[in-house]
Amino acid sequence: MGYREVYESWKNDPEGFWMKAAEAIDWVKPPSKALFDENAPFYEWFKDAEVNTCWNALDRHVEAGNGDRVAIIYDSPVTGKKAKFTYAEMRDRVALLAGALQARGVNKGDRVVIYMPMVPEAVVAMLACARIGAIHSVVFGGFAANELATRIDDARPKAVIAASCGIEPGRVIAYKPLLDGAIEMAEHKPDFCVILQREMEEAPLIEGRDFEWDAFQQGAAPADCVTVRGDDPVYILYTSGTTGQPKGVVRPNAGHLVALHWSMKAIYGIDPGDVFWAASDVGWVVGHSYICYAPLIQGSTSILFEGKPVGTPDAGTFWRVISEYGVKALFTAPTAFRAIKRIDPDGEFIAKYDLSCLQTLFLAGERTDPDTLHWAEGKLGVPVIDHWWQTETGWAIAANPVGIELLPVKEGSPGVPMPGYDVRVLDDDGHELGAGELGAIVVKLPLPPGTLPTLWQADDRYRKSYLSTFPGYYETGDAGYVDEDGYLYIMARTDDVINVAGHRLSTGAMEEVLASHPDVAECAVIGVKDALKGQLPLGFVCLNAGAGRSADEVVSECIQLVRERIGPVAAFKLAVVVERLPKTRSGKILRGTMAKIADGEEWKMPATIDDPAILDEIAEALKGLGYPK
Ligand code: COA
Ligand code: AMP
Repeated sequence: MGYREVYESWKNDPEGFWMKAAEAIDWVKPPSKALFDENAPFYEWFKDAEVNTCWNALDRHVEAGNGDRVAIIYDSPVTGKKAKFTYAEMRDRVALLAGALQARGVNKGDRVVIYMPMVPEAVVAMLACARIGAIHSVVFGGFAANELATRIDDARPKAVIAASCGIEPGRVIAYKPLLDGAIEMAEHKPDFCVILQREMEEAPLIEGRDFEWDAFQQGAAPADCVTVRGDDPVYILYTSGTTGQPKGVVRPNAGHLVALHWSMKAIYGIDPGDVFWAASDVGWVVGHSYICYAPLIQGSTSILFEGKPVGTPDAGTFWRVISEYGVKALFTAPTAFRAIKRIDPDGEFIAKYDLSCLQTLFLAGERTDPDTLHWAEGKLGVPVIDHWWQTETGWAIAANPVGIELLPVKEGSPGVPMPGYDVRVLDDDGHELGAGELGAIVVKLPLPPGTLPTLWQADDRYRKSYLSTFPGYYETGDAGYVDEDGYLYIMARTDDVINVAGHRLSTGAMEEVLASHPDVAECAVIGVKDALKGQLPLGFVCLNAGAGRSADEVVSECIQLVRERIGPVAAFKLAVVVERLPKTRSGKILRGTMAKIADGEEWKMPATIDDPAILDEIAEALKGLGYPK
């Protein structure tokens, strides 16, 4: 069957399609049906099934005689370490940590926050939680203590598992002070912390609260897999919303297992035993789905890479890893390729390695720009597949399903809708638009298995954020169009989310931080185009009358404040003091117009603008920062 037949087979019989896909999972008790819609618009999949995710990711492969197969390859150019862990080894490590957590009172439904860099122990910790039915919530290492505190207060974890430090090129990031600061700030206090001591920076432990990773597990009885219900969450992953309060995306066990397993072959063309590499971070959804869970659920080998595409040690690192381990498919963000191309435009490093094992390159996280697409196609000689998804969905909404059929690649498009997703484009009034017409991209409910059923303990927020603008549809927050062949084109966000180096950030959250500066009266943050990172945040601040501070001082304090409160990952380095912000007569800040001016795009004077002269002042200020480029 080709893509069209597969998609139609899902559309004609979604229940049959997903029940068939569910056969690939080891159930303690199989689901009686796929979709449970009695609480619509809240939908659940395989709700009455009983299952364990860790069993499906590890034990069953060992039981099937594949215990010696490599599950995880750890390659860390920043520490010079390499290691391989078989399925049997992973199962034993995971069972031991799981047993130690249980012995300390962590049980089914309890939350565990994981704050770790790209080390194998991060995956061990995630799977140990899944093994005992605890719900993990991984927080990306580049976030500041304040962001960690917000997540601790929302998830209310019984335990935190962290590492003493992470390593960024040229510097060691001490995680422990960030963790201590976060726990101090948070209202909720975890019962205990487990700390992986890395040799680059040993952290002082707090007696009675903190346990060293090895000592914590010493003598523990390995835990068996605990049966959970299909709709019990396996994890919560926080993502940027429109305010400083991140959204806790909930991922139920059963739908996640079924959808991820299906995607490995259908979308990525990977078979059990193949080597798959998602060069992302376990702190992001890509890391959850395609470093940890999907490859292991399927029985393939996953690479955990602790490094950057450039500088660790050079722009040939990716090619070295691919050739050394026989990677069949690489998944990364376009920004990584832009970083490589900038240093090695002629692909001299590529020529040094035998990349004959590589069959496909997958890109996501941001739109793949035509330059990057063609450069990668030309230099690697394999199909380059852009695909579109979100933390909320956990797997691709649109892709080019190479395991079913490689469709023609169209520049600027992340491909066609995957089975399970009935994608439509609507105008502001909710009317469906035709081919080529730009509008809000929505998915007709229900969303497929593996996607979010709600936000963590925030049903109302879920409804308001995703279901209220277009009743009957899930609002993706992306705008774009569909062409006459059914290919999607993602053009922009409809909210204040920006995408910086494939990382999703909220300009609203940055504005909240800037507004908290005592000398700032008003502010606005926009995303401006950047040749490497896709977008960068840029802040405008208006000072309080009589603040008596120099603009330079306030700007550098604002930059420091965002780094402290949100984290270095926000990459907030551009800000300027202005007298006034352009607004509509009703007081809405014209961020879109400012962004167009900064990007040097054509823009129209908004009819509702209060004082057009302010836009000239903004253009002047931007010129001072070198924008448009
Ligand atoms: N812990 C602590 N700090 C971190 C961090 C972590 N895990 N990850 C990033 N940071 C810091 C960086 O050191 C940098 O700090 P600086 O401002 O002091 O330089 C800042 O956060 C911004 O990081 P990043 O956006 O990664 O920029 P970079 O300049 O270090 O690297 C790229 C640029 C393009 C090479 C890099 O962003 C990259 O490899 N991107 C791939 C994106 C990706 O995997 N996305 C996931 C979705 S698929
Ligand atoms: P995240 O939740 O961090 O995965 O970010 C999701 C958002 O990133 C989407 O809503 C899009 O705005 C953007 N995005 C992800 N992948 C793509 C893609 N392939 N093309 C265009 N935008 C993308």
